[in-house]
Amino acid sequence: MYTGLQHLHSGIAYLALAGLVLVILYALIGSLSGREFTEKDRKIAMIAFILSHIQLLVGLILYFVSPLGFSLLTGGGAMSDPAARLTALEHPLINIIAIVVISIGYIRAKKITNSRSKFRSIYMMYAIGLVLILSRIPWSNWLS
Ligand code: HEM
Repeated sequence: MYTGLQHLHSGIAYLALAGLVLVILYALIGSLSGREFTEKDRKIAMIAFILSHIQLLVGLILYFVSPLGFSLLTGGGAMSDPAARLTALEHPLINIIAIVVISIGYIRAKKITNSRSKFRSIYMMYAIGLVLILSRIPWSNWLS
């Protein structure tokens, strides 16, 4: 189960990161073109919103199954080891905050009426979320 979840979390990471980059560029181009924000634009923004939420769900389960998650946090010594602190505390915490920021961007875009503000809410909040996520990826575990 652990290995399966690890592969799932790693695979969805590619999709979620690619989805965020594409939606940010799409919303930026939409805003610069000055066109109307349509239902199709909302659905495209929803793709990255859903992918990041699936990743949140898988990450939460993984956190309680992985030896690098909750068990490391409660096992003692994790705070003094940067690699342990990253997977047991910083990565989960910052990513949850990032997904909250992405959600605010998506929900705000649905509520406001001005098209340019809708596009801006998406590209700005998604970009903040993406930067937060990228700042706390365990790169050495992932790409080795
Ligand atoms: C969009 C959000 C997220 C992205 C893009 C992401 C991405 C990643 C990546 C790329 C890895 C390394 C995978 C590997 O070594 O093969 C990882 C590991 C991990 N993630 Fe996430 N993650 C996200 C959210 C979360 C959340 C919200 C949690 C927990 C609440 C979480 C818990 C973990 C844990 C515990 C590991 C270490 C797993 C292990 O190798 O045992 N992640 N994550």
